[in-house]
Amino acid sequence: MSRFEAAIFDLDGVLADSARSHFVAWKRIADALGIAFDEQANEALKGIDRMGSLRRILEMGRISMPQAEMENLAARKNGFYIDAIAEMTPADLLPGTQRLLDQAQDAGLKCAVASASSNAPFLLKQLGISERFDFIADAGLIERPKPAPDIFLACAAALRVAPQHAVGFEDAAAGIAAIKAAGMYAVGIGDAATLAGADIVYPTTDAVDLRAVLAA
Ligand code: BG6
Ligand code: MG
Repeated sequence: MSRFEAAIFDLDGVLADSARSHFVAWKRIADALGIAFDEQANEALKGIDRMGSLRRILEMGRISMPQAEMENLAARKNGFYIDAIAEMTPADLLPGTQRLLDQAQDAGLKCAVASASSNAPFLLKQLGISERFDFIADAGLIERPKPAPDIFLACAAALRVAPQHAVGFEDAAAGIAAIKAAGMYAVGIGDAATLAGADIVYPTTDAVDLRAVLAA
């Protein structure tokens, strides 16, 4: 008998390869500003909300600008990102995602999405998996962004599950910090050194052994 009653998933980089689309969109903005920005620099942006990400990119280039101009750039980035995910289909689910959701359902877990992205509902629809979740957090209603625990706690509350009975899945260091701050079991998807705060790390979603996780 497992102590877990709920599985709470990040979206970008866990269920879909959309983390790459966020990077490509920010790269276009950084290039236009003449700021050096590569995938390694992007690692620190994973899980970070839109304006927070822009602020970090501007810091990398030691550029400051009025708020209105920042909002303009953030809107441009979002336009690039929406254009990218508008092309997405269920084929853009990361390998292993359907299996992991099936296994979670078979194990009787309630499922939620804890994505910092305001585009999460649209992307889930494109991917054809909206109906797989009992709750999809609205990033716009969450007070403090990751690494604060708020979005994971909001999911647990909506599912009526105590945090210690929930397992969270994340590809970002900020997300792992949020899961741990919420008092949940944290599964990292990606690089073990980057996600050192997780309870267990798998290199990919496809590699997740849910049975082993639920036995923890
Ligand atoms: C997170 C991504 O899921 O959502 C971040 O990891 C992104 O890269 C954040 O900045 C906010 O997304 P959006 O779509 O609201 O700009
Ligand atoms: Mg992510």
